[in-house]
Amino acid sequence: MAFSESFLDELIARNDIVDVVGSYVQLTKRSGSNQFGLCPFHNEKTPSFSVSSDKQIYHCFGCGKGGGVINFIMEIEGLSFRDAVEFLAKRSGMQMPEDDVPPEQRGRRQRLLELNKDAARFFYENLSRPEGQAALEYINRRGISKAMVKRFGLGYALDGWHNLIEAMTLKGYSKRDLLEAGLAKEKKGSVYDVFRNRLMFPVIDIRGSVVAFSGRIIGEGEPKYLNSPDTPVFSKSRNLFALNLAKKSKAGMLILAEGNVDVVSLHQAGFDCAVASLGTALTREQVKLMERYTENVVLAYDADAAGVKAAQRAISLFENTGINVKVLKIPDGKDPDEFIKKHGSDSFRVLLEQSDNHIDYRIMAIMGKYDLNTDEGKIGFLHEATQMLSGLNSSIEREVYGAKVAQYAGVTPEAVKLEVGKAFKRRLRQEKRQAERSEMRVENTYQPDDQSIRYKNVRSAAAEEGVIRLLLLDGGLIRSVGDLKGSEFSAPFLGAVFDKICEKLRAHETVTVSSLAAQLEPAQASRLSVIIGKPEVLSEAEKSMADYIDKIRTEQIRSRGEQDLLAISKKYRQTKGYGEHNG
Ligand code: UTP
Ligand code: MN
Repeated sequence: MAFSESFLDELIARNDIVDVVGSYVQLTKRSGSNQFGLCPFHNEKTPSFSVSSDKQIYHCFGCGKGGGVINFIMEIEGLSFRDAVEFLAKRSGMQMPEDDVPPEQRGRRQRLLELNKDAARFFYENLSRPEGQAALEYINRRGISKAMVKRFGLGYALDGWHNLIEAMTLKGYSKRDLLEAGLAKEKKGSVYDVFRNRLMFPVIDIRGSVVAFSGRIIGEGEPKYLNSPDTPVFSKSRNLFALNLAKKSKAGMLILAEGNVDVVSLHQAGFDCAVASLGTALTREQVKLMERYTENVVLAYDADAAGVKAAQRAISLFENTGINVKVLKIPDGKDPDEFIKKHGSDSFRVLLEQSDNHIDYRIMAIMGKYDLNTDEGKIGFLHEATQMLSGLNSSIEREVYGAKVAQYAGVTPEAVKLEVGKAFKRRLRQEKRQAERSEMRVENTYQPDDQSIRYKNVRSAAAEEGVIRLLLLDGGLIRSVGDLKGSEFSAPFLGAVFDKICEKLRAHETVTVSSLAAQLEPAQASRLSVIIGKPEVLSEAEKSMADYIDKIRTEQIRSRGEQDLLAISKKYRQTKGYGEHNG
């Protein structure tokens, strides 16, 4: 581990888990120091995700995930341990330790992010230079306000081949930096600016770093937009334009538009939850990203044929996610930007409220896959469409759309209704079974679900967990552990945790679950949160401790005995001559 424990302890202390989790999950106070919310790691309707401010841990009773604040950030932001620590350090204004020299790759990332930030600043400042006046006029012509220019950090890439390169070289960046950031290109030994005479939209990730740029031509011309390539700090398919702003919105939804200008226009009109995918078709990763922030997405794609097609494709990506998609239809005009310009934001709000559920779109999308002129095509279409309709919870919807599907396929509505009804019942049964299974999982608390930490000896592991739990609940119990050692534990990671706790307690230091969890694998950290969450009667703690230790040692002897037996029988087989070789 590259970080000192004191650093991690301070980091954890400064990032209260309730605050951190609270910025992702809506928590409501329930019992004691525990708060509950809907688990961000799996789909659920009733809250089984708890956060303890006392223990500074989170735990989901549904999916079993849990740990300390660092584990939470790793999981929800999809970051490595190191990046999660950095994320939290940044959040709480802590300096990353100096001696923790980042490896080459990480140093590079940092460098490229810095360069991007400086480039964005340069582009922004160009707007107030005489050479930037044309860009400013264009911005005005498009009706983009000063406030939006500032909020989005819009800028202008000067007309010329070396403006950015020169400015950044003066700031100490190298040719390699510029090439790697996708801001410069090299041809026949000479380097030149990628973005020239363009209106610049910085792409800012959820952590607030400028990761890329999108540059629009001033006026007419081709290509209309030029985007940064994928770089060590940017993956087009994993980012959404303006999510850094939209994630703070209180709207309870995200509006997904196609164009950057649409997004700016929407924000300006008061729809601060608008985002756009970055000039490509929507990806699964982007859907996952949205799922972290909302359950409701409204597609506000262009009204042209390409936009309708893109919307249909996008909808299929939301299937089996926790997101409810709606599709907004723009009656005239091409895109949200134009609509708002023409009819104002109130009219757009009406469209938003009227936005259709996605069912028609989905039916069309399924229809597109089959040739309804053939029998096989009809059957395939009906099969898939009834399957889709059975996922609708409203019987009215099932009926209405069932009739439509029947009409498309040229069969009677009754036939479709019958099939949808069957599929619907099947689905309910399945869901019930699934719910029962997850209930069982909650009860079967002694064997972790996660294969990677499956206990070899559940009986012993239960006692080992007990010892750890007692020590975490009452450090004074260190008196009662005697000469028990982690190496006696059947589960190595529990043994390591135990040793760690003892070491700290014997040095009269405090032990926190979150600092222990920070040093474990995610599955192990989750387990630790389960361990600490189980009930324990503290009034008889010393006796419980003795019982647990007793259990560990009996199991030790038992398993050693089994091993001995195994060895004896193996030897016996060998002497008998039917051991290692066959026939
Ligand atoms: P649009 O052409 O709809 O863009 O393309 P827009 O934002 O509405 O632009 P205006 O209103 O004409 O100024 C949608 C998105 O597709 C990407 C861009 O991200 C753009 O915002 N795109 C478009 C490209 O990447 N390259 C292109 O050549 C065109
Ligand atoms: Mn447009």
